[in-house]
Amino acid sequence: MERKKVIVTENIAEEGLILLKSELDVDFRDGISREDLLEIIDQYDALIVRSVTKVNEELIKRGTKLKVVGRAGNGVDNIDVDVCTRYGIIVANTPDSNTISAAEQTISLMLSSARNTAWASDVLKSGTWDRSPFRGSELYGKTVGIVGLGRIGSMVATRLNAFNMKVIAYDPYISDERFERYGAERKASLEELIQEADIITVHTPRNEETMHMVNENILSLAKDGVRVVNCARGGIVKEAALLQGLESGKVASAGLDVYEKEPAINNPLFQFSNVVCTPHLGADTFEAQKRVGENIAEQVIKALEGGIVPNVVNLPTLLGEELNYLRPYITLAEKMGNIYYQLAKTAISRVEITYSGPISINETEILTIGFLKGLLEPVLWEKVNYVNARLMAEDRGIKIYESKEEKSTKRYKNLISIKIFNHGNEMEMAGTLSRARDPLLVEINGYETETTLEGYVLIVENEDRPRIIGPFATALGDEGVNIAGMKVARFNKGEKAIMLVNVDNKVEEEVLDRLMKLDGILGRPRLLHF
Ligand code: NAD
Ligand code: MLT
Repeated sequence: MERKKVIVTENIAEEGLILLKSELDVDFRDGISREDLLEIIDQYDALIVRSVTKVNEELIKRGTKLKVVGRAGNGVDNIDVDVCTRYGIIVANTPDSNTISAAEQTISLMLSSARNTAWASDVLKSGTWDRSPFRGSELYGKTVGIVGLGRIGSMVATRLNAFNMKVIAYDPYISDERFERYGAERKASLEELIQEADIITVHTPRNEETMHMVNENILSLAKDGVRVVNCARGGIVKEAALLQGLESGKVASAGLDVYEKEPAINNPLFQFSNVVCTPHLGADTFEAQKRVGENIAEQVIKALEGGIVPNVVNLPTLLGEELNYLRPYITLAEKMGNIYYQLAKTAISRVEITYSGPISINETEILTIGFLKGLLEPVLWEKVNYVNARLMAEDRGIKIYESKEEKSTKRYKNLISIKIFNHGNEMEMAGTLSRARDPLLVEINGYETETTLEGYVLIVENEDRPRIIGPFATALGDEGVNIAGMKVARFNKGEKAIMLVNVDNKVEEEVLDRLMKLDGILGRPRLLHF
């Protein structure tokens, strides 16, 4: 089979490249020009970037084979995730691989700006031994204001608590429990935080809400001599406002790793001796880069094999443990989705999905997406995946309703029940996992069964009377079809019944025609394939 191709447009660790090369054809084109990238992107199944390559509609449109964009790092503000979703492209990042390094870089910027370390080092190296201009401040006993108490913000809090600082934080989107866990006093607003802080450090994503959030108005409320650190994203602290603050002396020092425009050359903030600047080095440690490189390589390989990868940005976030628990249920939901268009050819207007039992307390959105992927696959072939399945279903006018029940009312502990409404008709099914955690259909249109959704399954309606099932099984054998499992079900004795038969191989069309003519068989048997 032809190997898939990936282009890597920025530097990632050798370990990641080695892993990629074991499975894919790799073009490592660190620093490729925009024009060249636009020219050749249509040759690749995957693209791996860091924070410089702009992955926008212009690029995505030309990447006609692209299936996955891997962000070797955390922030995805250089990637238009919505556009990728529209084009069915998976966006994956490595959010946990460089958090320690970014937190340590924050502390380093904080210490070196408070102690004038970089400035003193430059002066000494230029031949002057002088201590007087460099007198700094201790962190001990000071108040640090953390904006954004997520992965990195919370690690910074833990470390600064060890310095005996008072830690206050502003993050409207997280629980009180998280503030307590990281020893941070909750502040209700940025205004409240800035008034109390001796040092402020930002750790939010950069987006419309956070761009320039620390601006002239906010800084005007700060204590005189406030110190500012930004190791998150350029622009969260407005550079023009910081410049003004440094000029007026309101801001005593700044530690910056990120800039509004990167690469940052001749940034006016570089003129200040009390500003410590690094060129976006937060994640640049051997340890983080090894983790990031290997992690993104693993995810891109997995994504190209089809299926779910752990850190997909345009899918609900699942922690490793939850994903492992839900994985067989995702397969179940997908296989249940697969059934409809194999049996019916009518457009769907509405789908109702109920999750019952302990699964319902999990992130069930991923199960719904799995179901929709399975549902649309027979009609949309390659175009549908976990990323765009919901969008594709909604585009086709399918309304999706979900509900949850803490306890299943049926005899199965966990149950996924689905009702599909087409114009005038309805299909109902329910599924669970077998003891071996295989996908099991337990109900279809009111008939109870226990049929494994694997390989080929024949659905046959028959009259409920003697000498129907035996001859049918014999006929299958005569046609060279081996039965792997069989379930029969009925509503009322003597009326219509149903057989669900797992068979080992495909049953050809002409065989189905012959089976239909057997005594007591009602209609043409239908063959499902999973
Ligand atoms: P995260 O998603 O774990 O945490 C972000 C936190 O910000 C969340 O808790 C969120 O609730 C909070 N937040 C969002 N909007 C907010 C607002 N308006 N006000 C206050 N809080 C808000 O992210 P993370 O992994 O901790 O990363 C933080 C930042 O660091 C990101 O911008 C990321 O891109 C950046 N980063 C930089 C480097 C580097 O090399 N300098 C390395 C890694 C990450
Ligand atoms: C990140 O978001 O992970 C950082 O900006 C680090 C990087 O891309 O090198």
